[in-house]
Order: sequence, then structure tokens, then C-alpha cells
Amino acid sequence: MDELEKIRAEAMELVAQASSLDALEAARVATLGKKGTVSALMASLGKMSPDERKTAGASLNAVKDEVANAIATAKAALDAKALDERLVRERVDVTLPVRPETQGRIHPISQVMDEMIAIFAQMGFEVAEGPDIEDDFHNFTALNIPADHPARQMHDTFYFGEKDDGSRHLLRTHTSPVQIRTMVANKPPIRIIAPGRTYRCDSDMTHTPMFHQIEGLVIDKATHMGHLKGTLMEFVTTFFEVDEVPVRFRPSFFPFTEPSAEVDIGCSRDGGELKIGKGSGWLEIGGSGMVHPNVLIACGLDPEEYQGFAFGMGVERMAMLKYGIPDLRTFFDSDLRWLKHYGFVPLDVPTLSGGLTR
Ligand code: PHE
Repeated sequence: MDELEKIRAEAMELVAQASSLDALEAARVATLGKKGTVSALMASLGKMSPDERKTAGASLNAVKDEVANAIATAKAALDAKALDERLVRERVDVTLPVRPETQGRIHPISQVMDEMIAIFAQMGFEVAEGPDIEDDFHNFTALNIPADHPARQMHDTFYFGEKDDGSRHLLRTHTSPVQIRTMVANKPPIRIIAPGRTYRCDSDMTHTPMFHQIEGLVIDKATHMGHLKGTLMEFVTTFFEVDEVPVRFRPSFFPFTEPSAEVDIGCSRDGGELKIGKGSGWLEIGGSGMVHPNVLIACGLDPEEYQGFAFGMGVERMAMLKYGIPDLRTFFDSDLRWLKHYGFVPLDVPTLSGGLTR
């Protein structure tokens, strides 16, 4: 039995010393393997008498189990250790970008429209939409521009072919038809902005046949011109991220507003550099006014009960002023180098809380 105890102790020591899975496997072969020390003792049982074999066999089996258990425990521990090491070695930093650099860019027009929407949404405006292909009623007639009105000539309209009844569809010349669609479909109070494409048959340094506008419309029972100016003042200071941007109304004429005003913002041109904000200069950014009673009537609203304001601004112009883009036509050149330079990173979505510009 001393012999058994010695072999047991040696076997256990061998297992305890094994510091790797390979060493542990070697320990298993050396003890429980075919030619192992414990197995060799097993073979010696054959030479014993039945009585001896009974007691010796039981103790030997106990040793065998003990060694097998020790090996299993050691193996589990070594497996866990190997896995831990592997996890550390193969660690993936999921916060790293998949590709070193995002290639695509958001076009300044999309970015500026998103910025405008973020600002007006904060003021409680909803986004409304209308079709690019309009009819005469929504683009002109309902906006108090009757068939023989000279304003129709001013708009350089793209017309589609004549239909059987003599009418023609057209590409909308401004976003104002969305005013009509909104008032026809919804009861006041109304507070919407409508960003989108507009078209005029005009092309030179400062005009492209397709451009973008953002329309604003507020209709309720008490909204007046002071609210219009306050809304625009709030908008321009937030948009240009300047503490104070003077806003000036210049008397003007639009058939669909009365009174009408052109909107100018303050700027300085010191040293040839254009800066939005306090200064001696003025820049026009859009048209505005109180919605004309005839427009309300055309939409089925009673001008004795309802009133409100509307404004329209050019998106490209706002983008040029804010981001110092000098040439309007480059917006539509699809030049990747231009887009790389003036474009925005896709995930930098403009928000008032996170910052409009980055
Ligand atoms: N629709 C006008 C334009 O395109 C702008 C405007 C909109 C003026 C709303 C007054 C009110 O020039």
C-alpha cells in the first residue's frame, strides 16, 4: 500500500505541476495512460489472490478516480485561462470606424435645409410638402396672380404641353403653392415650413434653372407682422450663430401678401470680408408679408376671422452666406472635389442641442 500511496502522491504532484494543456496531457499519459504509473498498478492486480485483489482494487480505483478528477479540474481551469488569454488577444474595439474615413458627404443644400428645419421645428413649425409639378391654380391663381397678371411674366415659368382643356402643368416657380395646399387641406391654426425645389427659366452667374426655397406660413386669428419679424429675427440669429443679427423690412410687392416686405439682414464688409451681424451693410435674404385676404378666400378661409404671415427664402443663398461659398453654379456641378470641401460628414446631423454647425 505504501507503493500505492507513493504513486498517488507522484501522480497528484505531476498534475498539480502541469501549467499548460500540453503538460497536463503529458501528466495524464504518464499516470492514467496505457503505460502510466496508475495503469501499471492496475495490471498488477491480476497477480493477486481474489481477497487481496478486492481491497487493493478498491483503493486503486479510488486513486484512479482521484487522479482523473484532478486532471479534469486542472483541465477546466487551463481551458478557462486559455479562453481569457484568447479574448484579450482577439479583442475588437467596436468603437473604431469600420473604414478609416467615411467617403460620402452631405451636400450643403441638404445640410442647410436640415439646419433650417431644426430651427423652425423648435419654434413649433411642421414640415409640409407639395409637388414640383404644379398647376396654374396652386402656383398662380390662388396666390392672387390672375391669368393676365404681369407677375406671371416675371416668373419665367417652365410649362408642360397644353392639355385638351387648354390648361398646362408647370414646374413650380416658388414654394408658395404649398401655402395653398396646406390651407385647403387643414383648418387653422397653421404653422408650417415647406422646403423644396423650385424652377425658373433663368441661368446666369446668380441664377440656376433649379434652386431651392423654404416657405413659411402661419395662420390663426391674431398673428401679426410683429410676429413675422420676431420669427425671422430668432431664425437668423440661430442660423448664423451670431449674437445679434439686425433684421430690416423693406416695403415691397408680392400679389399674395399685403403688406409685403423684403427681408434684409445686417452685415459688415470690413477688409473685403463679409460678416453677418452688426455692420453698415444689408443683405436681402427673402420676401415676406401678411397673407392677402384674396389668398385666404381662395382657400376657403374667412379673412374676417383668420389672418397670418408668410415668408420665402432662398436656400442656396443662405448656404452661400453662412458657409462662404462664392459661386451659386458650383452647387450643381457635381464636382466631387467641391463636395469634399464644402460637404458635411453624414453623421453630423444638425440639432439645436448638439450644435448646428461642426
Ligand atoms: N414666393 C416669393 C418668391 O418666390 C417669396 C415670398 C413668399 C414672398 C412668401 C412673400 C411671402 O419670390
